[in-house]
Amino acid sequence: MNKNIFIQNKIKSYKKKIDMPGDKSISIRWALLASQAIGISRAYNLPNSDDINSALNAVRKIGIKVIKKKNYCEIIGNGLNGFLFKNNTIINAGNSGTLSRLLPGLLAKSKNSIIVKGDKSLSKRDFSRIIKPLNLFGINIKSRNNKLPLKITGTDYLRPIVWNEILKSAQVKTSICLAALNTPGITKIRLVGSSRDHTERLFKYLNIPLKIKRSKNFDIIEIKGCKEYKGFNYNIPGDISSSAFFIILTALNKNSQILIKNINVNKTRTGLIDILRKMNVYIKLKNQRIINNEPIADIFVKGSQSLKAIKCPEKIVGRLIDELPILFLICSLAKGTSTFKKIGELRHKESDRLKICSSFLKMIGIKVKETKDGLKIFGNPNLKLKKFYEIKNFMKDHRIFMMSCIAALTLGGKWKIHDKNSINSSFPEFISKLKFLGAKII
Ligand code: S3P
Repeated sequence: MNKNIFIQNKIKSYKKKIDMPGDKSISIRWALLASQAIGISRAYNLPNSDDINSALNAVRKIGIKVIKKKNYCEIIGNGLNGFLFKNNTIINAGNSGTLSRLLPGLLAKSKNSIIVKGDKSLSKRDFSRIIKPLNLFGINIKSRNNKLPLKITGTDYLRPIVWNEILKSAQVKTSICLAALNTPGITKIRLVGSSRDHTERLFKYLNIPLKIKRSKNFDIIEIKGCKEYKGFNYNIPGDISSSAFFIILTALNKNSQILIKNINVNKTRTGLIDILRKMNVYIKLKNQRIINNEPIADIFVKGSQSLKAIKCPEKIVGRLIDELPILFLICSLAKGTSTFKKIGELRHKESDRLKICSSFLKMIGIKVKETKDGLKIFGNPNLKLKKFYEIKNFMKDHRIFMMSCIAALTLGGKWKIHDKNSINSSFPEFISKLKFLGAKII
């Protein structure tokens, strides 16, 4: 059942300390890498969300033991390509773009076929981005129009590839890295722009031979395949993409303060913090440290007295791609015109987020100009809402649901927001955390 929620009051100012569920990208990578390690791997703070549960179920389906305990999750791997499953085993990736794009790379050497399917929104998304490079390795992937379901058949005759990654997609990069694990020789990925580098960091942490050659215009990742690695323990840090909603709710509430504990502040994920600072938001990273080769910190944010518009540099887009919907909201309440260019990838997420966000902002009375791959937002710091707003038909996209809740709690007015269950894919505790800050949600 997909429940609705009602919000009828602005949130009052607060001063609170909270924590966040574990990072989704890192959790999925942990599960898939643990499935090929030799022996036991444990993850602490793994989120209990649908996307992560889909990943754990996928690992079970390929014949690997997964044990969920109260405080940790254990995966017992059999080494590289140590999977055991029947031909034509079906895996349901649910709503998870990351899982569905990484699995075909993981199964590069499995001679039995796997069929990957997903929910309605995932079934509309394009898979040519991974099919092309994986085909070059020799992996056979059958699909209709590059959409789910995919039928993947690996091979014993994997050959290393050289791939020019122009989409700046961490999912594509990671799928290639996983295929390279089982491929003799050296796979090379040339990166034209930056995207989250959790996979590279995990490979290094596990002593998998991975080198990064940096030059002025691009980086080249080189992976030497076929090196076994041992099971490993991992503390999943808090998710910065989930934190983003609380950072912005606080920034928009003049007398509020929040301390968000133990968050992953990897540079490839903190574009939002850089942009918000330029917009005049006070953000401080406290207690910075490195855990499991990832930078972690507590994020302290204060409500802003006067927000400035921004010109979002194209180079930063890959570092805040999932935070754009909530960033658009704060831009619409800042003084001046904010511009975003080269954000076309937003059209290929859980929904066409560029289209949905511009309709949303227009609906609440903000002037916007949407182009094929850009958005201009004419901010209005004095926007007042009085009407009744009903948010539905937004493809059950979790980040749009959460952005709508932050808008309602900041702007007032009366709201009915559909598809509460969408948050289960990344952040089931979202509503209870808002209530902890004092939000009244029915
Ligand atoms: C992810 C990468 C991003 C992001 C997604 C998670 C990942 O997608 O939007 O939510 O874990 O690698 P792209 O790599 O397609 O940009």
